[in-house]
Amino acid sequence: MTAVDTFEVYAPTRVMFGRGSVTRLPEAVSGLGKKALLFTYGDDSMRASGTLDKVTDLLVQAGVSVTVDEGVEPNPDSEYVDRMSQSARKEDYSFVIGLGGGSAIDVAKAVAIVSVNKTSVLEYLPGGKNPFMEGVKNALPIVAIPTTAGTGSEVTHIAVISDRRHHYKPGMVHSSLYPTVSIVDPELMLTVPPGVTASTGADVLFHAMEAYISRGANPWTDMIAREAIRLTVENLEKAYRNGSDIKARTNMAWACTLAGIPLDQANVVAIHALGQGISGHTNAAHGSTMAALGPAYLRYTYKANPARYAQVAEWLGEPRDGSSDMELAEKSSETLRKFLARVDLDITASSLGVTEEMIPAIAKEAFLLLQPLMDCCLVELSEKDAQEIVRMSM
Ligand SMILES: [Fe+2]
Repeated sequence: MTAVDTFEVYAPTRVMFGRGSVTRLPEAVSGLGKKALLFTYGDDSMRASGTLDKVTDLLVQAGVSVTVDEGVEPNPDSEYVDRMSQSARKEDYSFVIGLGGGSAIDVAKAVAIVSVNKTSVLEYLPGGKNPFMEGVKNALPIVAIPTTAGTGSEVTHIAVISDRRHHYKPGMVHSSLYPTVSIVDPELMLTVPPGVTASTGADVLFHAMEAYISRGANPWTDMIAREAIRLTVENLEKAYRNGSDIKARTNMAWACTLAGIPLDQANVVAIHALGQGISGHTNAAHGSTMAALGPAYLRYTYKANPARYAQVAEWLGEPRDGSSDMELAEKSSETLRKFLARVDLDITASSLGVTEEMIPAIAKEAFLLLQPLMDCCLVELSEKDAQEIVRMSM
């Protein structure tokens, strides 16, 4: 059942998890130096919730001087990363902090490595001079403080930066992009609005589910993916309906951190590759693109490995009722759609702004920019297949 029987177990980030764990920030940054650069959103949400002040006060208590940049936007782009890296170079920061959702953490990661290497982030993106990041100097230490339960960036060595010149939204990968320490405090997630709770929660589900139906899956990532899916199925709707349900928030925060590991180690598949393309073209929220594409992908590919797709259907709540793997696998698409409907994410790609004219480019870019993800699909897909999956999602 397992795709590979030789694998490596690696998750080097120190994770401080639990309610109130942000107060451990002084302990977390001890030994990382005395001058930090912190990235967060510019929409005031971190100020309004008091989180930004709490974090900067704790850093001051720890004797760390901190410069705050509140310029992070959803789907952060290369221009912003380059501008920030250039100014960071002059200041000799000892570490970088990302406070917010995946965008803030990924900007922190990108600046932590680009500033040290005195270059442009474009060099490391597909089409750049060094997309495999060979011979680059290690990033400055990275501290991640997620305030949404979504990307799992707190435990991955991936940073996703958009190249707006081409509508591209590729990722860069380097071993020094694992955060040195991540503080995952569900209390920081209580003010996340329902729509964002749903789309980021869907992202958690897709990291775990796609990693389970990836060629990169191994017994370790399967075990973690299973638990992440279980927690998401039990808690996402609760967190969506009642944002102050701390138990549901805590379980989703843990599901997110867990799902980051299979995402990082087993890789995700075409749903993410095509979803990144959709975000690049329409600026749609990452998790929503997964929700739009997921059911079509399962329907198109379930015959590739009925046992695994059947397992996914069961975890999503489909009773086995004496069905064969193939029967259950066939239902996986509809079961996923029903689950997503519980958080109002039974949506189409066209509702996200995708047009028929965009489809060939979205399919082409998935191969051009995220070939490793396309290679991880359990069935070999052509560009035409990829187009068809997007079309079925419209
Ligand atoms: Fe994702």
